Amino acid sequence: MTAPLYAIPGTPPAGLPEEAPQAARTVAEVLAQSQVETVIDELDRDLIGLAPVKSRIRDIAALLVIDRLRAQHGLAAQAPSLHMCFTGNPGTGKTTVALRMAQILHRLGYVRKGHVVSVTRDDLVGQYIGHTAPKTKEVLKKAMGGVLFIDEAYYLYRPENERDYGQEAIEILLQTMENQRDDLVVILAGYKDRMDTFFQSNPGMSSRIAHHLDFPDYATPELLQIADRMLSATQYRFGDEAREAFDSYLRLRIAQPHFANARSVRNALDRARLRQASRLYADRERVLGADELSTIVAGDILASRVFANAQKDAP
Ligand SMILES: Nc1ncnc2c1ncn2[C@@H]1O[C@H](COP(=O)(O)OP(=O)(O)O)[C@@H](O)[C@H]1O
Ligand SMILES: [Mg+2]
Repeated sequence: MTAPLYAIPGTPPAGLPEEAPQAARTVAEVLAQSQVETVIDELDRDLIGLAPVKSRIRDIAALLVIDRLRAQHGLAAQAPSLHMCFTGNPGTGKTTVALRMAQILHRLGYVRKGHVVSVTRDDLVGQYIGHTAPKTKEVLKKAMGGVLFIDEAYYLYRPENERDYGQEAIEILLQTMENQRDDLVVILAGYKDRMDTFFQSNPGMSSRIAHHLDFPDYATPELLQIADRMLSATQYRFGDEAREAFDSYLRLRIAQPHFANARSVRNALDRARLRQASRLYADRERVLGADELSTIVAGDILASRVFANAQKDAP
């Protein structure tokens, strides 16, 4: 459950200029000055599927752009609450979208730096009395000016443990989410059902989350497109029949335990690249051209033990 604490630098400071030469008066002017549309277009282009998520992000961006225009007229009473909850199964793109969201928030001037600090319970909660508050505060300090992404956030709450230190972390988080919402956005992530239960027991947290985005599982054709995208990004491609082989692979793999959507695709392709390399390595004298070096053939896929297991399991 322990993910490393990592910080991803934001985009070079685009942001809204502190003193825009001319205050934006139209949506187009806000979009042009902030260059936020580039991020949204990239998100649309780079991420396969996720239609409901993409449309929610457009809605949130619209809200923020209008909020900027309202501020020009002195209409903004206080910073809008931007804390969010991303629910969905593993590998559905929650972390990836959080990075893009941080860029959007940064470009529109809602956070100073636009970096993402990604944590789990272990990064926030100490083992001993007195350890939790400093740990949580340290993480919050790192995240200030950006997005704090708490993966599997419901593990912060352990009702079966009467004196669980998680509660202390939750209370500090709640306070910061309220008092410093003009410079920190918290995104809670995890499985939908567990998050629902968590919110039921933690109404304070629930009431501070303004936006709920649910990430659906990918259908097989989407997973195939994701595979194409991942391969071409690394200058590989499926050879003849390899794509069909990968399609069959996915259909078997989805039915197996621990299937993790796009993450499983990434892992399967990593293994296919290993097999491709071993295959090419075996023939020492062969002259290898760019084409051969970048092609994953059907055999590289079909050698997966997913196929062997399927055969074994067949009646
Ligand atoms: N819609 C998508 N299109 C392309 N790649 C995706 C998509 N969703 C996820 N990925 C890739 O799959 C992997 C897992 O995604 P991630 O954002 O870590 O999922 P989660 O945080 O929901 O577990 C990453 O390598 C990511 O780039
Ligand atoms: Mg993740």
